[in-house]
Amino acid sequence: MTEFDYRDGMLHAENIAVSEIAEQVGTPFYCYSTAALTNRYNALRDALAAQDVTICYAVKANSNQAVIRTFAELGAGADIVSEGELRRALAAGVPADRIIFSGVGKTRDELAYALSENIHKINVESVPELEVLGEIAAERGAEIGIRVNPDVDAKTHEKISTGKADNKFGIDIGRALDVFAKARAMPGVKPVSVAVHIGSQLTDLAPLRAAYETVAELVTALRADGHEIDSIDLGGGLGIRYKDETPPPLADYARIVQETTGNLGCQLFVEPGRMLVGNAGILVTRVIYDKQGQSRRFVIVDAAMNDLVRPAMYDAYHEIQPVRETRANTSTTDADIVGPICETGDTFARGRALPPLKTDDLLVFQSAGAYGAVMASTYNSRLLVPEILVKGDKFAVVRRRPSYDELLKQDQLANWQ
Ligand code: LLP
Repeated sequence: MTEFDYRDGMLHAENIAVSEIAEQVGTPFYCYSTAALTNRYNALRDALAAQDVTICYAVKANSNQAVIRTFAELGAGADIVSEGELRRALAAGVPADRIIFSGVGKTRDELAYALSENIHKINVESVPELEVLGEIAAERGAEIGIRVNPDVDAKTHEKISTGKADNKFGIDIGRALDVFAKARAMPGVKPVSVAVHIGSQLTDLAPLRAAYETVAELVTALRADGHEIDSIDLGGGLGIRYKDETPPPLADYARIVQETTGNLGCQLFVEPGRMLVGNAGILVTRVIYDKQGQSRRFVIVDAAMNDLVRPAMYDAYHEIQPVRETRANTSTTDADIVGPICETGDTFARGRALPPLKTDDLLVFQSAGAYGAVMASTYNSRLLVPEILVKGDKFAVVRRRPSYDELLKQDQLANWQ
């Protein structure tokens, strides 16, 4: 089925005109395609079918419960990084025994809650965390994973690179044997898994191969030391196309997994986020003004950096197009697409060729399904953007736009009496 494409001169999400959704829910809004989510999940599952791999969707990429539910129904587990994400995953129907807890700063309370829910595994990222976990797991016992930092350059944006020695993530590979030994010596803790995640939006498989080779060597060394290692968590990180990137074919990724870990007899876990949801979502916005500045044209839209922060935060590129298809012979001029927020950083793109636009014309930001709605804030007292899930010719509001009343009620006046 088609996911997002132009038909009869209008952008469609599956079988619904995006303009129709805009009319009913107002703008801006995020819109996800069930078919796109399903197709991406199935493509990854099929590519990895020859191995014993569990796909634990990285909920941080898009934590709407309707999205998590879509993957849960396809058999996915979840990779979570906070108590909030754990609660969302459980509420959306992910079985606890398919949930993995990652993150450098899990609190004692979060660890205790995760243990009480009997999740599949906690991936420990530091010795102090191991000590806390050792204390709370002493009586009930816990099989754990240890995330290592393989010191590999993922060759992605520095803000989303996680596998270099100077990043905050994981246990240095050189100390891994000692830390596994320390964990084994603790009553109640049994380290049985090695985890790795070197960064996000990777479009080159070589760093992943290097990381997986390092992990495989570690598994062999740990077994020689008498550890019973039964699983490996290979993390996420597979990139998508935003502009002209060429993400590696999934078959190539699967081959690397097979070549590096295939002979170890381990159960494998992957934690993809972006590759499952990034291109399954769009952000739809409305033109407020097409303003000719002194030297530049500014298209001011009703979405802003608080709704989609990636361009401001990572200089990320999102394709931006009119929702009504531009006719081939229409003349365009370059424009900066900006939001209404009072800072120059509220710029989505510079110098994009766009046709003349009028107030209320709809524009679409492509590839906004990952790290879009989840990173939104209410800066400038703007309301969080609603989320829509499309399936065939139907759509559901899976997070509604709050009211200004709700926004105001979040604060309370101090009562000094
Ligand atoms: N596993 C762990 C331990 C992670 O830290 C992450 C992402 C993932 C899995 C999923 O990675 P993915 O498959 O989505 O690349 N906000 C940034 C991306 C931050 C990624 C953080 N960790 C962005 O908008 O580009």
